[in-house]
Amino acid sequence: MAVLEILTYPDERLKQASQPVGTVDEVLRAFIADLEETMDAGPGGVGIAAPQVGCFERIVIVDCTRTRKPVPNHGRLYLINPEITKWDGMAVGREGCMSVPDYTGNVIRAEAVSLKALDLQGQPLELRCEGFEARAIQHEMDHLDGLLFLDRLVSRRNDLFKRKVYQQSK
Ligand code: NI
Repeated sequence: MAVLEILTYPDERLKQASQPVGTVDEVLRAFIADLEETMDAGPGGVGIAAPQVGCFERIVIVDCTRTRKPVPNHGRLYLINPEITKWDGMAVGREGCMSVPDYTGNVIRAEAVSLKALDLQGQPLELRCEGFEARAIQHEMDHLDGLLFLDRLVSRRNDLFKRKVYQQSK
């Protein structure tokens, strides 16, 4: 296992769209273990996407058990080729990103999403997520399409905030 280097804004590679995973096998699972270790080594991240470490495949990990306030969640999610099939509601919320370490921003997201993906065994998975977990999943999936939360701010002037310190979530 290894902690991988995180690409940070304005690295152009963060704008690259990722390709669907073809085969879920031991090689892929070994990469996902490194991706997970990289997320866990970071300061309070609730998710990570493969392109943040320069691997342009459609893989994200989300774990909302690490938030400061408890939120409804499904534990640690490993989502391969995730697709959102239903969006409900809209809410504004504050987001941060390991690839944008110095800022947070207010972003509008769906309040709840239904999604499908493959799990670590390559088996289909369907989920309904709401609130902060839905937000985290939408944020991580944006990385797969080369988007950062910075791209979704309504206004850079009003919705972007400089961090003093990247706070630990626990
Ligand atoms: Ni991010």
